[in-house]
Amino acid sequence: MAVIGKSAIVTGGASGIGEATARLLATEGVKVVVADLNEELAQKTAASIVESGGEASAFKANVAKMEDAEALVEFTVEKYGEVSILINNAGVVRDTLLPMMSREDWDLVVDVNLGGCFNMMKACARPMMQKRYGRVVNTSSIAGRFGGRGQANYAASKAGIDALTRVLAQELSSKKRNITVNGVAPGMIITPLSQQVRDLTQDKIVGLVPLERYGTSEDVARVIRFLVSEDADYINGQVIVVDGGLSLGIKW
Ligand SMILES: NC(=O)c1ccc[n+]([C@@H]2O[C@H](COP(=O)([O-])OP(=O)(O)OC[C@H]3O[C@@H](n4cnc5c(N)ncnc54)[C@H](O)[C@@H]3O)[C@@H](O)[C@H]2O)c1
Repeated sequence: MAVIGKSAIVTGGASGIGEATARLLATEGVKVVVADLNEELAQKTAASIVESGGEASAFKANVAKMEDAEALVEFTVEKYGEVSILINNAGVVRDTLLPMMSREDWDLVVDVNLGGCFNMMKACARPMMQKRYGRVVNTSSIAGRFGGRGQANYAASKAGIDALTRVLAQELSSKKRNITVNGVAPGMIITPLSQQVRDLTQDKIVGLVPLERYGTSEDVARVIRFLVSEDADYINGQVIVVDGGLSLGIKW
């Protein structure tokens, strides 16, 4: 399963699924930019990848800001000559039922999760087209398909990511350009982001997973690696569910 791309930006790469993906791509010889709002953690992750023999740099960016997205892409092109792979993974949650959900909670989640994907894809489109190569994977969620109480902002942002994936898979791709845009939709994965839900539900959700375990960041990272490998060259505009079967039986 060869990964052809030479360099990758992983947003939200300092923690959880992004960190696991950055580490895995680095083991494939990809030069990785660990981009995150949390600069200290991004530096720690990049340093640890380098210690393990990979090539990585840290970059502080708020993906919700177009100027940060542009600066991140500029940094990557200057440092590694191109952006071959973009993993749009940065995400936040602010779960609460509609009556309690503030406009700020809505704006933050939509701006980071969906706006961040838009900003990064817009900033990467030209460099990828010029190099005639690009592999984009957007991190969605099963919440984008099935919803979830208290997740109006989050589920809407992830459904938007699914739509954006399908639109840009058509806009950016051509035989000449060789760009694909896909997504992964994880279920319940053990990371800091899902801690609050796992605490609130006291691990009841695990009983709804046919595989009888929560997912790990590596479970998702391996699917992302597949989507950017040459084995997935003919997959485009798809969002692959990685949830151990959770969404099959859950009563949303
Ligand atoms: N953990 C799950 O169960 C689960 C399920 C479905 C989807 N996801 C999605 O997976 C992605 C990764 O989440 P995770 O679970 O690994 O969470 P995580 O909290 O471990 O990692 C998210 C990272 O994104 C960074 N980040 C937050 N806002 C940012 C911003 N504005 N700009 C740049 N970086 C920012 C954080 O600093 C953090 O390092 C998210 O998009 C999330 O919605 C997670």
